[in-house]
Amino acid sequence: MPRTPLIAPSLLSADFARIAEETQRVADADWLHVDVMDAHFVPNLTLGRPVVEAIQAVSPIPLDCHLMIEAPERWAPGYAELGAKNVTVHAEACTGDPRDVARDLRAAGALAGLAIKPGTPLEGYEEILRDFDTLLVMTVEPGFGGQSFIADVLPKVRRARELVDTGHLTLFVEVDGGINADTIEQAAEAGADVFVAGSAVYGADDPARAIAALRAQAAAALTG
Ligand code: DX5
Ligand code: ZN
Repeated sequence: MPRTPLIAPSLLSADFARIAEETQRVADADWLHVDVMDAHFVPNLTLGRPVVEAIQAVSPIPLDCHLMIEAPERWAPGYAELGAKNVTVHAEACTGDPRDVARDLRAAGALAGLAIKPGTPLEGYEEILRDFDTLLVMTVEPGFGGQSFIADVLPKVRRARELVDTGHLTLFVEVDGGINADTIEQAAEAGADVFVAGSAVYGADDPARAIAALRAQAAAALTG
């Protein structure tokens, strides 16, 4: 079955002083990716639940919350409760069984996502991922926008796609970091179907055109 690519602009590259307008500029996208960082799990601090709640109230498209925080089991359900479409926690940050977080997220009405850093192998999570709706394969080290795509992680995307295509898993395969016109095709060919793009969208003169172009490139690579 042909996959439909979803484009998720990352608000991290937007103008934080004008967040409401910035959400409108990407109204043609599928999900609005919101990076929550706590200055502990990653060496950067962004925003937390009160600000995400304000974004949820004005966003024309569903929120995709990427939590780069410690103790996700404690904080993640709050993002589901405020109405986020998908809430993703990092496997490396979970102190207990990530499936407990997935259960809480789903109970609160969100899709449950599990993220892995570039150096984290997929093996060991293949069984756990049966309880998740999204696998986020980081294609840069989490923490900052505008970094270069790490193609070395694509075998994990390929393996995840294989697990989905053979019926072992049912989830979105999302890539995040360094996705742009030069890299989106290789990510799509490897099997990704959700594409986060920060600088490639918000750094463009016309974000709507950038979104359409990325979507067309990904769709061509997926069907090609
Ligand atoms: C990085 C964030 C990404 C970031 C992507 O830690 O998770 O979502 O915003 O930005 P670009 O697309 O510029 O690499
Ligand atoms: Zn992200």
